[in-house]
Amino acid sequence: MKIAVIGTGYVGLVTAVCLAEIGHHVTGIDSNKKKIELLKKGKIPIYEPGLDKLLKKNKKRLVFTTSISEGTKNAVVIFIAVNTPPRADGSADMQYVEEVSRQIAKEMTSYKVIVEKSTVPVETGKWVKKVINLYNRKNVPFDVVSNPEFLREGQAVNDFLHPDRVVVGAGSKRAQDVMDELYRPIKAPKLFTSVETAEIIKHASNSFLATKISYINAVSRICEKVGADIEEVAEGMGMDKRIGRSFLKAGAGYGGSCFPKDASAFIWIAKKAGYDFNLLKEVEKINRGQRDMIVEKLENALWNLNGKTIGVLGIAFKPDTDDIRESPSVAVIKILLEEKARVKTYDPEAMKKAREVLKGVKFCSSPYEAARDSEALVLLTEWEEFRKMDLSKIKKLMKVPVFIDGRNLFKNKEMRSLGFIYQGVGR
Ligand code: UDX
Ligand code: UDX
Repeated sequence: MKIAVIGTGYVGLVTAVCLAEIGHHVTGIDSNKKKIELLKKGKIPIYEPGLDKLLKKNKKRLVFTTSISEGTKNAVVIFIAVNTPPRADGSADMQYVEEVSRQIAKEMTSYKVIVEKSTVPVETGKWVKKVINLYNRKNVPFDVVSNPEFLREGQAVNDFLHPDRVVVGAGSKRAQDVMDELYRPIKAPKLFTSVETAEIIKHASNSFLATKISYINAVSRICEKVGADIEEVAEGMGMDKRIGRSFLKAGAGYGGSCFPKDASAFIWIAKKAGYDFNLLKEVEKINRGQRDMIVEKLENALWNLNGKTIGVLGIAFKPDTDDIRESPSVAVIKILLEEKARVKTYDPEAMKKAREVLKGVKFCSSPYEAARDSEALVLLTEWEEFRKMDLSKIKKLMKVPVFIDGRNLFKNKEMRSLGFIYQGVGR
């Protein structure tokens, strides 16, 4: 099928490349000229393992342009994957979705299925329909579909090609049939439902995962007080299939472009619908508290942070991505800078993006450089590279061997036997 994807960011680009991989002819459209120029040269503007290979493999079925009219002309299905950034009040900023819907409407000349891929508040489908009707000069038939994505950055290609489920909220049988054909090569259970239900499934799923993480972080605070080990608590809990082992990792908390935004959007949507979602407000509060807890651990070990040299290992919001949006590490670094500590930092992939937002820190080229002469090391992103580093070399390089492990990457016994003043989370 001929497909168009508008917005070639983390979500849109993975969607475009993977749809080409399963056999469709895809046009990726983006207003960012630099991104489109890079993509035309077969280069990808983000770090996502395996994506560049797939882009090259499918270049015969992939075209990139900045023009919505050119890009959507022959497409039967048009995915909207532009960003829906959070506003101050927690609601999602839908201006780009509206702008793009308007442009699609003006160019339509034949039946289209317009698909919401970006995470959008419930009722967006209704609004997109309204906007298109306003500008649909040639009165062309169309349907609006909600097809939320569940991609995890760093595993996005795998998550797209091998999802647990495909959720499609279709406005009509005709749209459902088109989407059924589009996803036929994907071997996974497909749930066809209403547009509103599909939109809620996305918010409810992400918010539930965020709740699971804040729950285990709250339990980790109790473990520290009573001398229990949170990793083993999570092990014991996860053996219950109803709970499941995943998303029970205590640490510096969740970040990224989805959980923080989706939780606050869901709270906002609930409030608008007349329900006060206090549970989710508490989930957010616990998550923010994890950053303060990391700083408290440093103060307990070092007393005043003013003038102290602190190495921060990891800036990305999680490993295998260069994305630093809402990263706990960025939040902790900002607190340390406010406390007038001298911060040195290193991340295997996120340094370029970090330089754009972090001023007044020393960017290092290795974890060893970040450790040199430091009075503490704080690990906030559990990159494989950090698991493999030479810990005795790290210890020798440090002025004071305080090691705060914000992602429980290491073990108490091992670190303390190496002479570190070591602290994990919840252990
Ligand atoms: C986005 C949303 O942020 C997220 O809520 C949703 O879950 C999936 O889509 P992401 O792909 O990470 O996530 O956003 P981003 O990486 O910012 O990419 C958005 C792309 O849309 C950018 O490349 C931007 O240039 C492009 N865009 C934005 C347009 O092409 N036109 C616009 O009008 C606005
Ligand atoms: C998430 C959802 O998993 C995905 O389905 C949705 O489409 C987008 O949002 P992503 O944000 O890319 O994906 O990363 P994820 O792997 O879910 O981790 C999110 C955050 O939670 C990261 O900051 C990670 O460090 C943190 N996390 C995750 C924990 O703190 N503990 C855990 O056990 C798991």
